[in-house]
Amino acid sequence: MHFSTKAIHVGQKPDPTTGAITPPIYMTSTYVQESPGQTKGYDYTRAGNPNFTNLEDTLASLENGKYATVFASGLSAITALISTLKKGSKVLGGDDLYGGTYRLFNNVFKQFGVEFITIDTQDLDAVKQSFKLKPDFIYIESPTNPLLRISDISAISELAKKQGVLSVVDNTFASPYFQNPLILGADVVLHSSTKYLGGHSDVIGGVVVTNNLQLKKKLDFARKSIGLNPSPFDVWLISRGVKTLEVRMQKHEKNAFAIAKFLQKHPKVKNVFYPGLPEHVNYNIAKKQMKGFGGIVSVEFDLNIKQTKQLISSFKIFSLAESLGGVESLVDHPASMTHASIPKSEREKVGLKDGLVRFSVGIEDEKDLINDIDSAFKS
Ligand SMILES: Cc1ncc(COP(=O)(O)O)c(C=O)c1O
Repeated sequence: MHFSTKAIHVGQKPDPTTGAITPPIYMTSTYVQESPGQTKGYDYTRAGNPNFTNLEDTLASLENGKYATVFASGLSAITALISTLKKGSKVLGGDDLYGGTYRLFNNVFKQFGVEFITIDTQDLDAVKQSFKLKPDFIYIESPTNPLLRISDISAISELAKKQGVLSVVDNTFASPYFQNPLILGADVVLHSSTKYLGGHSDVIGGVVVTNNLQLKKKLDFARKSIGLNPSPFDVWLISRGVKTLEVRMQKHEKNAFAIAKFLQKHPKVKNVFYPGLPEHVNYNIAKKQMKGFGGIVSVEFDLNIKQTKQLISSFKIFSLAESLGGVESLVDHPASMTHASIPKSEREKVGLKDGLVRFSVGIEDEKDLINDIDSAFKS
């Protein structure tokens, strides 16, 4: 089966009792047992729910993996993963990550004795050297949030395998339509399904996909034991969103390309970060491992901070908001919004400047989007 057929049909069988084409929402906390301990597969929604199973089947299939576990958010998916570690464990992380991920490692799990060491995972020698520290996981985003950096997933996964290190890829920016890390050799793929999977900015969710049965059992255990479960309704919304993932991603990418090219030519733009541009530092790796380049474009303007903030507050179609991956276009100022929890010195070390602006390009008409940016400049 091809991608869009799987997105629509896997895990989404019509309801056998009524014939409803769309599986119903099982808004239930508990399940009646025939005799103590005898269930029809579910006992309590914190541990499992038919809507969870449906979405897990769909997402495992789209990521070409065997097992998926859905969670209440991207961060709860990461929490479940880290909870499988012990005091004294080490995680090697990319140095350009979503601010909330950075905060979770540094301000929460560090207190429980899990060490977090960041490196530039674009640099394979640095990765190789860092494996001498004997980490348990290597955790990367590719493309990264917000600098759209690309790491060589196959090369890193191969190095990790040799050292017995679990490779984890946050695939939120690419979505399973443009990139499948498990096929590239990674052990674990993770998403904030709040973003492209849900696709309509109306839900928070997360998922982990893996071929490792032992890990899948630990993740299910973490969901049940820590209480990281989503609501059945939210999961149902994500299942609905996923059905249109292919067409949405195609339009996101088309619009993002148009905006990246428009901005590249604009006299008030210093730098455009988009992995689909041949000028992007990791263009060749992106081309090798991705089927497309996604809908996020980051930019540094030739403006001071005050002017930059003024500009991005004056768009009419791009809404100034955190998050990304929805049908509507958003614009974000990472230094004061999504990445404010990373200390300024750390941000600047990796090149995340105060002037950086991140566009989540939606699926509106590209001419209106370009006109919105152009008009804001002119005014
Ligand atoms: C790349 C990435 N990973 C993880 C997360 C966390 O996901 P959530 O907000 O669903 O908890 C985000 C949120 O913006 C993100 O951008």
